[in-house]
Amino acid sequence: MITIEVNKKICAGDGKCVEVCPIHILKMNEKERVPEFVPGGGEVCINCGHCFAFCPCGAIKLSTMDIKDSALLDYSKLPGAEQVELFLKARRSIRVYKDEPVAKELIEKLLDIARYAPSGINRQPVNWAVVMGKDKVYDLGGLVSKWMGGLLSSKPEMAESFSFDRLVESWKKRKDLICRGAPCIVIAYGLKDDLMVPQSCTISGAYLELAAFGLGLGACWAGYVNMAINMSEEVRKFVGISSRAYAGAAMMIGYSKYRYSRIPARSIPRVIWKC
Ligand SMILES: Cc1cc2nc3c(=O)[nH]c(=O)nc-3n(C[C@H](O)[C@H](O)[C@H](O)COP(=O)(O)O)c2cc1C
Repeated sequence: MITIEVNKKICAGDGKCVEVCPIHILKMNEKERVPEFVPGGGEVCINCGHCFAFCPCGAIKLSTMDIKDSALLDYSKLPGAEQVELFLKARRSIRVYKDEPVAKELIEKLLDIARYAPSGINRQPVNWAVVMGKDKVYDLGGLVSKWMGGLLSSKPEMAESFSFDRLVESWKKRKDLICRGAPCIVIAYGLKDDLMVPQSCTISGAYLELAAFGLGLGACWAGYVNMAINMSEEVRKFVGISSRAYAGAAMMIGYSKYRYSRIPARSIPRVIWKC
């Protein structure tokens, strides 16, 4: 159960924290003009920390959240609209990597950023598996290629729709179109029976990719690895996740060998407007 403590001396008593609570479990104590949980609120609180993070007076303390882990937000440090747009449009899928390993600390930094991705009901259900080093990633690619090879006969339609024959042939010629010679693969996974897991993992993957770009790394979704983890016991075992898990993102990470000069054109948005 989560508990809330309010410093009555500094609380502004304006009730705005009550307004921002996403599940409406805060109310104002009319006598003392401070927020408090409605009966049973502490049991159903989703621990999103919005009341605490919103409070400009720093009057709210949640039993689950340490002020030391909650940085003060300096809006002047945020990039402007133009920079955000450029950053998002400039990100590319990187498939040609320098022959350079990525430090574990840098992957930890990416994961530290990706944990701020939204998750259904703030369940934060995402776990990570990291395959470090070119050799280990190559071994993983080999298992994925083996799995693809098996599907050529057992599920020919699926294999054909994803051109597995071409990928397996390339692999045999030591041309890696599966993991692209990346020095690291990061996988986001969670429990299969948690309905919030697929999207939460995918969004965390998207955060990871953007964070990699921001930190001077290159990333690319490893869709075949992702599929293989969800369909092959051998691949799943290699990355160390159980059969109760579902992987919602797999990402190649490394240093890009090249820099793009332009932003390629994309389809215009197809939208149904209901006005
Ligand atoms: C779910 C998903 C799976 C992907 N899988 C692969 C993959 O296995 N190999 C690869 O080279 N690119 C993969 N990509 C990258 C896409 O091909 C890429 O996003 C697309 O071509 C657009 O290029 P851009 O990301 O540079 O804008 C994947 C992307 C997504 C979203």
